[in-house]
Amino acid sequence: MPTVDEVKTVLSQVIDPELNNNIVDLGMVKDIHIEAGDVTITLALTVKGCPLKNYLKEQTQAALFAIPDVENVTVNLTSMTPVERQALKDRLSPAIQINHIGRLVGVMSGKGGVGKSSATALLAVALRRQGYEVGILDADVTGPSIPRLFGISGPVRSVPLGMLPVETHTGIKVISTNLMLKEEDTALIWRGPVMSGTVKQFWKDVLWGRLDYLLVDLPPGTSDITLTTLESFPLSGVILITTPQGLSSMIVRKTVHMSQGLEVPILGVVENMSYFIAPDTGARYEIFGPSHTLAVAEAASAPILGHLPIDPHLAALADAGQIEQYEHSACTELAQAFAAALPPIEPAPAAPWVR
Ligand SMILES: Nc1ncnc2c1ncn2[C@@H]1O[C@H](COP(=O)(O)OP(=O)(O)OP(=O)(O)O)[C@@H](O)[C@H]1O
Ligand SMILES: [Mg+2]
Repeated sequence: MPTVDEVKTVLSQVIDPELNNNIVDLGMVKDIHIEAGDVTITLALTVKGCPLKNYLKEQTQAALFAIPDVENVTVNLTSMTPVERQALKDRLSPAIQINHIGRLVGVMSGKGGVGKSSATALLAVALRRQGYEVGILDADVTGPSIPRLFGISGPVRSVPLGMLPVETHTGIKVISTNLMLKEEDTALIWRGPVMSGTVKQFWKDVLWGRLDYLLVDLPPGTSDITLTTLESFPLSGVILITTPQGLSSMIVRKTVHMSQGLEVPILGVVENMSYFIAPDTGARYEIFGPSHTLAVAEAASAPILGHLPIDPHLAALADAGQIEQYEHSACTELAQAFAAALPPIEPAPAAPWVR
């Protein structure tokens, strides 16, 4: 006769694909009755109309029939009570149990418009091409541009335990306020604390699943959101995006001081718009003059991870929502330098909301 432990062991291999966790750990398995070769269990779905109910029932039946000596299987479906659901949500929320995030990395710049979102997207694309699971948390709540670069739109789907990110064509998971709005061009007029709260929610209420790298595209400068993220997210570190210009470098130094003050490691500096290669002659031009990036990297005690050229083809693809089609050796090299500076680690359960 099968034992309760045997039943639990096989059922712990039945995964709820939406929550990325097994039905035993999710507390869905109730009332296990065994009589000779007859096994009866009750499966408590998170909500009554759960779209996965047939799938979960079939998987459960198949798992139970795989136990030797099991002859009959009955799976009764019920749903969790609001109290149980809330308890599960609380237990799982800060996405602690569900999300396994390898490395969480902020992308910062002092000044706006230096190509931070473009660089974040290009890095994500290049890491994805190298086989990593990648996500982008668009923390630029009032100026979100990540969905547009990838040509993706919402709405974000919510399941009882959180929000599901939208996937790009190559499978990069994205969350952004732009994916929540009915009209993409609706202006969000929010005060600082509301914006910071939204970014916190993106961290703790989004079901990211298993990711090697989660990149956080921060708004420019040293705003509330950036401060909140640096203070509260369990970041592995930040990368700084700059352009060769002196002013940009001066402002990025402020960002360096902010990160250092909050003891968040600066993993490296990326210089965007470094040079331009004339398509007709192949000549190389340093449009913004000689670079100040080395000085920035020295101030940050961090390596330069890459130089991205000014490329009208990139701008055109970005405008068309096709940034995933952009290919340039500079992006591949950037991703390699990044992964070398911050090697992938086995994704662990997301750390709790620390402060
Ligand atoms: N290397 C590049 N070559 C050509 N165009 C670029 C490059 N980098 C960025 N751009 C263009 O510059 C503009 C600003 O880029 P992006 O939105 O990435 O900057 P940002 O720093 O994220 O801006 P913000 O501060 O508003 O968040 C975009 O139109 C983008 O397509
Ligand atoms: Mg941006």
